[in-house]
Amino acid sequence: MRVKTAVLISGRGSNLKSLIAACAKPDFPAEIALVFCNVEGAGGVAVAQAAGIPTKVISHRGFGSREDFDRAIDAALREANIQLVCEAGFMRIHSDWFAREWEGRLLNIHPSLLPAFKGIRVHQQALDAGVKISGCTVHFIVPELDSGPIIAQAAVPVLPGDTAETLAARVLEEEHKLYPNALKLVAEGKVKLEMGQAVFI
Ligand code: GAR
Repeated sequence: MRVKTAVLISGRGSNLKSLIAACAKPDFPAEIALVFCNVEGAGGVAVAQAAGIPTKVISHRGFGSREDFDRAIDAALREANIQLVCEAGFMRIHSDWFAREWEGRLLNIHPSLLPAFKGIRVHQQALDAGVKISGCTVHFIVPELDSGPIIAQAAVPVLPGDTAETLAARVLEEEHKLYPNALKLVAEGKVKLEMGQAVFI
């Protein structure tokens, strides 16, 4: 039985595309059973539809609180019998309730070598700091933003003349390899969140 996985997106969905490609392999331990998006008309929804994956679009606008919106996400995940959630460019901060509810079953990809450069405008933060290496991180989500235990990372050089856009493109290529590998590890049970730590088996 493959692990029923949902991907949460807000945008163009290039990471979603790489996860779909990985899940298309017959021996991959996860399947994407739902793509959830909070932005009407986001490109990633069309990516999912083209692959024949069920989609659910619910805008966060109009909900009274973060938790109210998260309860709508939770209902969609439960309705689809989701076991594991991958956030891929999902640009909403969760309520503590949601992070706890899905603890250990909630992954995110972030375009920096965490714990450096959390939040937004990540590549500009890296350029402003003058780092010579940047990269991407897949981690378990915990209530504190971009702070959960690390599952996998990949590094890229920061080159002279880089802009936020050129660096983002270099990092994104690595994201597309890293996220499927990290999902595989979690879906196979080779890494677990235990007592607040990523434990590798
Ligand atoms: C990716 O670079 C991802 O790491 C980043 O958004 C982009 C989404 O691109 N996520 C975050 O910044 C989350 N804090 P995509 O829609 O093409 O996958």
